Formats: sequence, structure tokens, C-alpha cells
Amino acid sequence: IATENDMDKVYQGIVEMLDKSIPYYDWTGFYMIKGGELVLGHYVGSPTDHVKIQIGQGICGQAAERKETFVVDDVTKESNYLACSFETASEIVVPIIKGTEVLGEIDIDSHTPAAFDESDKSLLEAIAAMLAERL
Ligand code: SME
Repeated sequence: IATENDMDKVYQGIVEMLDKSIPYYDWTGFYMIKGGELVLGHYVGSPTDHVKIQIGQGICGQAAERKETFVVDDVTKESNYLACSFETASEIVVPIIKGTEVLGEIDIDSHTPAAFDESDKSLLEAIAAMLAERL
């Protein structure tokens, strides 16, 4: 039976594995729902000011509200966007959904414009589904 400490290692391992394996993943992290808002969890990349994000706010908050993966090819064209780094060009946010409830999300930023395609979406959705099963 995995303890909370074991699961922390799993989350950390996932962000490190994604960051190391995929060169265009430049900020890779988890936001988890706590007290009705998104709270920054394990991540690899530059520190961010956005430690807490309201549902509906930014790309992360919109993905949580819609309960579906949100891909933004050009973050400069997205008005409801919370900038973490001026180097970020594109972003994908994949909610971790159990039943109808969003429990958290995987958020990846890339310095490459339009970096994310169907293969990123299916890989990250598979990881999210795997985590949802044990949450
Ligand atoms: N860009 C996100 C905020 C999180 S940072 O990318 C780490 C957003 O617009 O919600």
C-alpha cells in the first residue's frame, strides 16, 4: 500500500521523467485541487509566482473548468493566460479526472511554438488516467 510519501516520489518521478525524456518540455508540473483551487505541486523548471490558481483563471483554470485537455499553440494570443516565464511559447494542460471530478492537472510549458500534438495529448492523458485511478 503506497503511503502519501511514496506518492510524492511518484509525482516527482513523473515530472523528472517527462522533463528528461522530452526536450521541448521546458516546465513540467502538477497542480492539485485543494480547497477548491489549484495548488502547485511537484514540478521541474523555473520557480513560478502562480502557486495558487482559481478555477477559470489562466490556461490551468480553464482546463479545470472545462474538464478537458487544453492546448494553446501561441500563449501570446490567449487573453486568459498567467505568464510564468517570458520564454514560454506554447502550453498543454491535462486534467486528472476521477468520475466527473477534477483532482488536479499536469501542466507543461514549451519554449517552442505549437510544441504539443496528439502524441503529447495521448501520453499525458494516459498518465493522468493512471494517477486518477489511485487517487
Ligand atoms: N500558464 C499557466 C500558469 C501556470 S505556469 O505555466 C507554470 C496558466 O495560464 O494557467
